[in-house]
Amino acid sequence: MSRTSVIAGNWKMHLTKRKASALAREVAARQGAAEHRRCIVFPAFVHLDHVRRNLKGSNVVLGAQNCWSKKEGAFTGEISPYMLRDMGVQVVLLGHSERRHVLGETDSLLVDKLKVALRAKLEVMLCVGETLEEREAGLTFEVLRRQLKALKHVKDSQVPRVSVAYEPVWAIGTGLTATPAQAQEVHAEARSSIAGILGDSAAAAMPVLYGGSVKPANASELLSQADVDGALVGGASLVIDQFGPILDAAPVV
Ligand code: 13P
Repeated sequence: MSRTSVIAGNWKMHLTKRKASALAREVAARQGAAEHRRCIVFPAFVHLDHVRRNLKGSNVVLGAQNCWSKKEGAFTGEISPYMLRDMGVQVVLLGHSERRHVLGETDSLLVDKLKVALRAKLEVMLCVGETLEEREAGLTFEVLRRQLKALKHVKDSQVPRVSVAYEPVWAIGTGLTATPAQAQEVHAEARSSIAGILGDSAAAAMPVLYGGSVKPANASELLSQADVDGALVGGASLVIDQFGPILDAAPVV
């Protein structure tokens, strides 16, 4: 089955309001009316509304980098997925490696976030990936299977709103990229885990993106792998001269 490529820019804690708005307009222009690829941007929370306005009329999808695990309440400094939805956000990134490893998010917290985000009618992009120590200890697949267990909480009707991003922690922001063969091997394993949890047809339809030092120079080869359905791009998503060529690397199916 052929899946539409997804090219996503995770802007992390970068840019000013003005620069984020300008980048949104550039991404919208570059995405144009392309139908063979889906483009998502994940700006910082405080830039969401500005970016939304600058994306108006385009087919670039607005995403947020995180949300809290409850609908509302006394959670100072946190943001509900319902607030994101109300703000025009369509997708939320959950379990990014920086949330897991720098901010200490656990698999069980992520299950709660996943459930409430899906109830809020957001799409969820669940990030998974092993550290260098885990890879070297031969634990890559085990870590992947453990992190993907969160998908047990996805109801059948919610499956079309879920995607997965495989981001090996050792490849994020380091300039080290998984080789296309390494990425394909892990993506195939991820898809078989997804099939074990949600069934074959859900696994066949679910986008599984690769992230970790994706650049114009390596994007085409990564995106040409059978089970790599897109790219989640950090550093190279901050300038259109790099993100544009990555968008253009999405294969025309
Ligand atoms: P880099 O592309 O900067 O390695 O970041 C990847 C990432 O974390 C995207 O979510």
